[in-house]
Amino acid sequence: MAYLEAKEIRKTFGKGDGAVQALRGVSLTADKGEIVAVMGKSGSGKSTLLNILGGLMTMDGGTLSVDGRPVDFENRRALRSYRKNEIGFILQYFALIDDMNIYRNVSLPLRYQGMRSAEIGRRTRTALESLGIAEKARAYPSELSGGQQQRAAIARALVKDARIILADEPTGALDEPTGAEVMQIFLKLRQKDRVILIVTHDEKVAGCCDRTVRLKDGRNM
Ligand SMILES: Nc1ncnc2c1ncn2[C@@H]1O[C@H](COP(=O)(O)OP(=O)(O)O)[C@@H](O)[C@H]1O
Ligand SMILES: [Mg+2]
Repeated sequence: MAYLEAKEIRKTFGKGDGAVQALRGVSLTADKGEIVAVMGKSGSGKSTLLNILGGLMTMDGGTLSVDGRPVDFENRRALRSYRKNEIGFILQYFALIDDMNIYRNVSLPLRYQGMRSAEIGRRTRTALESLGIAEKARAYPSELSGGQQQRAAIARALVKDARIILADEPTGALDEPTGAEVMQIFLKLRQKDRVILIVTHDEKVAGCCDRTVRLKDGRNM
């Protein structure tokens, strides 16, 4: 059994005439050590799928299991802990908090976990160093280039040592060389105990991944 197994996931937004069936039975598996690309045209359901896999959104049908155990979307506490402990999210526009410096942005998930401050400091410094932005710890997001901001966002996703990294068009807002650089970082993050899913429009990015899952109109292609 794969580490992450999503089966027949369905999601409809809205009701009646205005209802949009974003996912009509999408299945996806990913094993630890893999980087999987998720591709499809705009509106094909990629972000919806990622949000459900990350426990940010409920589904109307289907199942998600991680490490052989079903994720219980009805159990709010279990879902919160799944999000907090298993998932690292990376978004196209970085979603860093403007009025916090890079150190505080990156350490935020650990502060949410209520970790002791010495441990927070140790882990945050390690994450910043591994992404080559240790010297930016005291800078604010607006003082960083796009590539540096995305590195900070990746550091924030990694700091809690999440098993599942979900990245929604992480190179979408970057110019090509910077995007290629960020992709090299993802390739370096491939580890035997980690699953990485990358939503992308870019065939080059997908070409760097181990496998590609394609969506069309809310279905697997
Ligand atoms: N919160 C929402 N409310 C209503 N419709 C939505 C919402 N989120 C996404 N959709 C619709 O669901 C479909 C899939 O969207 P999305 O998952 O964002 O696609 P993608 O990321 O592949 O561009 C689209 O038709 C989109 O308009
Ligand atoms: Mg999207």
